[in-house]
Amino acid sequence: MGAVSVDELMTTGPVIPVLTIERLEDAVPLARALVEGGLRPLEVTLRTDCALEAIALIAREVPGAIVGAGTVLNAADFDRAVAAGARFVVSPGLTDPLIAAARASGVPFLPGVVTAGEVMRGLDAGLNRFKFFPAETSGGPGALKALQAPLSQCRFCPTGGITAASAPAWLALPNVLCVGGAWVAPADAIRSGDWPAITALARAASALG
Ligand code: 3PG
Repeated sequence: MGAVSVDELMTTGPVIPVLTIERLEDAVPLARALVEGGLRPLEVTLRTDCALEAIALIAREVPGAIVGAGTVLNAADFDRAVAAGARFVVSPGLTDPLIAAARASGVPFLPGVVTAGEVMRGLDAGLNRFKFFPAETSGGPGALKALQAPLSQCRFCPTGGITAASAPAWLALPNVLCVGGAWVAPADAIRSGDWPAITALARAASALG
């Protein structure tokens, strides 16, 4: 399983699914359903007890997936996620310990930012790819568009409250490479094992942008 660059990660498809996996047995069929629908990067949030095991299982069993970890809040979790097999890491915010962990690991890191000041802290750390989070409540596409002129070297993955209906407006921005969202893997569809429904949502998401 080769390393992926941050731009490969962000341009493989228009949507990175944000997954919350409550039952380990759902991990592989969920990942397969999304990959079948054309979405390969999969962000597994570290919000559930089985998240690290889910990352390890997907890494081992679903070769078409590019599995990563989300909701990574500290360096210890960063390292645990990479050890489990995460090929990229997403966090809701930018902290010095996460910057150091990302540097040490070499794994693509998408920290959440909203303001120009946060982006500039990232630039100082050598980063120019970010998650724009929480996207819809932080001013929507207009807010991110306003960062394009002064911070034109930066590209973003807006995430947070985005839906199939709102995604196109984000994807149309010149500084957006992809969006993140949980809408392609709804909790009720995961709970009921409705993998065809998730494949259909993924297929529709793949066709965006
Ligand atoms: C998150 O909760 O990490 C993100 O906001 C993705 O979830 P959403 O698409 O439901 O906002």
